[in-house]
Amino acid sequence: MLRDKSMIEPNNICYSHGFNNEHESEALQGALPIGQFNPQKCAYGLYAEQFSTTAFTAPRHENRRTWMYRIRPSISMGDYSPIDKGLLRTAPLSGPPCPPNVMRWDAQPICETPTDFIDGLTTIAANGDANTHIGIAIHLYSANKGMENRYFCNADGELMVVPQQGELIARTELGLLKVKPGEIMVIPRGIKFQIDPIDEPIRGYVCENYGAPFTLPERGPVGANGLANQRDFEYPVAWFEDTEQASCLVTKFMGELYQAQLGHSPLDVVAWVGNSAPYKYDLSCFNVINTVSFDHPDPSIFTVLTSPSDTAGTANMDFVIFPPRWMVAENTFRPPWYHRNVMSEFMGLIHGVYDAKETGFEPGGMSLHNCMTPHGPEAEVFEKASNNQLTPQKYASTLAFMFESRYVIAPTEFALHTATRQKNYLGCWGNLKKHFDGKA
Ligand code: FE2
Repeated sequence: MLRDKSMIEPNNICYSHGFNNEHESEALQGALPIGQFNPQKCAYGLYAEQFSTTAFTAPRHENRRTWMYRIRPSISMGDYSPIDKGLLRTAPLSGPPCPPNVMRWDAQPICETPTDFIDGLTTIAANGDANTHIGIAIHLYSANKGMENRYFCNADGELMVVPQQGELIARTELGLLKVKPGEIMVIPRGIKFQIDPIDEPIRGYVCENYGAPFTLPERGPVGANGLANQRDFEYPVAWFEDTEQASCLVTKFMGELYQAQLGHSPLDVVAWVGNSAPYKYDLSCFNVINTVSFDHPDPSIFTVLTSPSDTAGTANMDFVIFPPRWMVAENTFRPPWYHRNVMSEFMGLIHGVYDAKETGFEPGGMSLHNCMTPHGPEAEVFEKASNNQLTPQKYASTLAFMFESRYVIAPTEFALHTATRQKNYLGCWGNLKKHFDGKA
């Protein structure tokens, strides 16, 4: 019999603030050792366990690790055995070749049969190679029930969760987070967690980052403030389950799913200290930088988080948002320009209307414009934006985002053939007129 989790969770979840800080937290007073990490005996009979998501020898400014003080070490578990991975896929994909076409999908319907977060994961696209820690996968999630006695752990990458519908609660080894549409959450590679709907079915996007952990982009001449500020990133405080009932840890490893039985909850960390931890961020905190004179800057000005690759300025994955903002550019075509890009672009829409596509790109939907695939505003948007009177204009009630990667984003076989793939996306540019007549 499962406990009612609402009996053991606080009504108001607390967070500590600061991106990549050395956070520390204890759910029982005195559980966190002072002045050292692994004393001969830990308080309360806890076990010390180090959790490293970068190599021990990673440069100090990139190093991520957390010390956990837990009821049992993580190895207190049964052996793994493989289970069905459903529609979850991992790069390198073995499916059909990736065509260079522009692609767009309607929103995937929310699951109707009882489905938890793990079973509701569907892979849309991937690139790189999870086994060499390069690239990403893009999944959709949809769940209408809690994970109950199941817990999830992903050894293949960290998970960025981008809710599109419904608030969720994440119970993690390092504490609790509530996340709703308009916010994002990042769960480091290897952290054990549950994600449950709170009061309605949930749906959204997941970027599984096989590469370097997400970090804040450099600001360059923008200066010491602006874009995503460190202070707005929220980390959980220590919270634990001390239970002695059967549970199951599902682990994703090298693209396959495995499960192991436990006689207790794996969320048994009573205190912790470190900088590798889940965090959430409210996208409305993003300080938008844009032109106050003319021309449309590159969308990199909207980068919230980046996973760098080994080539400077060329990301494994950039997470970019198109939030509410004022447009004031003079003598400028204000929507995104037509372009071809060496980087590959996957877009999703959380709510509202995206300025380059006023029809056909719906909340929960997605589009894919791969390396060198031409794209830009649809024909009607071009005509309108070319003739609008350029007064200051507020783009309100809109929130689109982009996962942008240096590696070609290949759709899965499911994504290529699912009924939600639009058959005539190209048609939105079909009415582009020839305006050229040779006369100045
Ligand atoms: Fe683009």
